[in-house]
Amino acid sequence: MAWYKDAVIYQLHVRTFADSNGDGVGDFAGLITKLDYLAGLGVTCLWLMPFAESPLRDDGYDVSHYERIHAPYGTLGDFEALLAEAHARGMRVVTELVINHTSDRHPWFQAARHAPAGSAERDVYVWSDTPERYAGARVIFSDVETSNWTRDPVAKAYYWHRFFAHQPDLNFDNPHVRQAVLNVVRFWLDKGVDGLRLDAVAHLFEREDTSCENLPETHAFLKEIRASLDERYQERILLAEVNETAERTRAYFGDGDECHMAFHFPLMPRLFTAFAREAAEPIVDIVTRTAELPDGCQWALFLRNHDELTLSAVDPAERAALQAIYAPDAAMRLNHGIRRRFAPLLGNNRERLVLAHALLLSLPGTPVLYYGDEIGMADDVRLPDRGGLRLPMPWNDSGEAGISVSAQAGDAASLLERVRKLIAVRQARAALRHGSIAFLSTGNPRVLAFLRRTADEQVLVVANLAGSAQHATPDIADADAPIPIVDLLDGAPVEPVVPGGPHRITLAPYACRWLSLVTGRRLRR
Ligand code: NOJ
Repeated sequence: MAWYKDAVIYQLHVRTFADSNGDGVGDFAGLITKLDYLAGLGVTCLWLMPFAESPLRDDGYDVSHYERIHAPYGTLGDFEALLAEAHARGMRVVTELVINHTSDRHPWFQAARHAPAGSAERDVYVWSDTPERYAGARVIFSDVETSNWTRDPVAKAYYWHRFFAHQPDLNFDNPHVRQAVLNVVRFWLDKGVDGLRLDAVAHLFEREDTSCENLPETHAFLKEIRASLDERYQERILLAEVNETAERTRAYFGDGDECHMAFHFPLMPRLFTAFAREAAEPIVDIVTRTAELPDGCQWALFLRNHDELTLSAVDPAERAALQAIYAPDAAMRLNHGIRRRFAPLLGNNRERLVLAHALLLSLPGTPVLYYGDEIGMADDVRLPDRGGLRLPMPWNDSGEAGISVSAQAGDAASLLERVRKLIAVRQARAALRHGSIAFLSTGNPRVLAFLRRTADEQVLVVANLAGSAQHATPDIADADAPIPIVDLLDGAPVEPVVPGGPHRITLAPYACRWLSLVTGRRLRR
């Protein structure tokens, strides 16, 4: 089985994770000291947010040199040490490839603005004499920017940027740019990174009379990156960041010849709708529609990340409902999304937080945990932009009652220990990692039930999305003459069963049970 299909990915920011020298900024040396914590949690792959040289006006998503390390985080040697230490623990490392744009401090942009119009240096970015071109492209950071064009007084021309004005877009129509990007890919793969998260990859090309997103030219270039990766390297992956509808996101897998993985942006807001409505249907609907992928492809599932909880690909009625419930204060909103962390979003209700993790770790796809969510970390909406989602990891007592690693470690009832247990059970059960999925009727719209199945194992997942106790009768008649016999999570006795069901289960508020099914035949042996 491909490693990324069995992985548990943990997203972290070197800047905020662990500070080894007390200068107030996290660093690679600090992260190395926390690898045992991560391995103990069951993490098998790190996703590191950008650590290349940057003025940090978008926290590193504004790169000013692709092959240098942002000095406060350490040196290239420190990064190599981290890679070696992670690999020594059997842990993979995915890093960021932020190629849609650079920082305006990047030497390429400085050269471009000073170079004559039409010159090779100028042509590295996208320029225009008017701000009217490509009018079909939306403004993404709509709270800050009003146009995708900004006039540069030095060049005396407008340059194109899909994000902040200090992030000029590279010109992918220029073959030298495409070659330079392939060189950056090789530089990091040669260092030994196991995968690349492709930031903002839907926006590489521009064409008149289009949205300038998901263009055929973008897919063609991704296939070129993939081909060069397959030609030279083994077991490396491309992970697409595409915040789009199910159908458009699906296109980034190509025919198995583009990205290995893509974030399941279509699922994420549906999970929050399901939690808000206490209803299983939004999850069943989207997972059913996105179940089939080409060989070798895999969804990356997530609850939250370092950005606002994006609602831009959600229909307007659902967006309004989610904002009303999860972002009652204007300060909680950003660019039509919600700038809150996972635990406060779900009311810091521990059972609900465990439930959400139980779904993250049992629905089909590879789970991606955002650092700190395993301890129910807080946010701070008073900080500008997305800064309040990226606070330092609280290793020791943090003032917030119980919200630190040391306050929870070893306490079996804590969120941290329950997440650790969920991960351990998932990693021990192939059916939970890559079994097929079949949703089951339960006779109760508040209860989600599905069967994950491989040739050797069947696990029945039953989740109560409601804050009140519920009964359900998951229809397991289709399973292979099954009898729920073991509760994989707490070992609690399973109610007496009728082989072949229906099987009545009572669930506490927000309870999720993972039940191992065995066949009557196997039971008799
Ligand atoms: C997506 C990243 O996740 C986000 O943090 C960043 O601001 C934009 N891309 C621009 O790079």
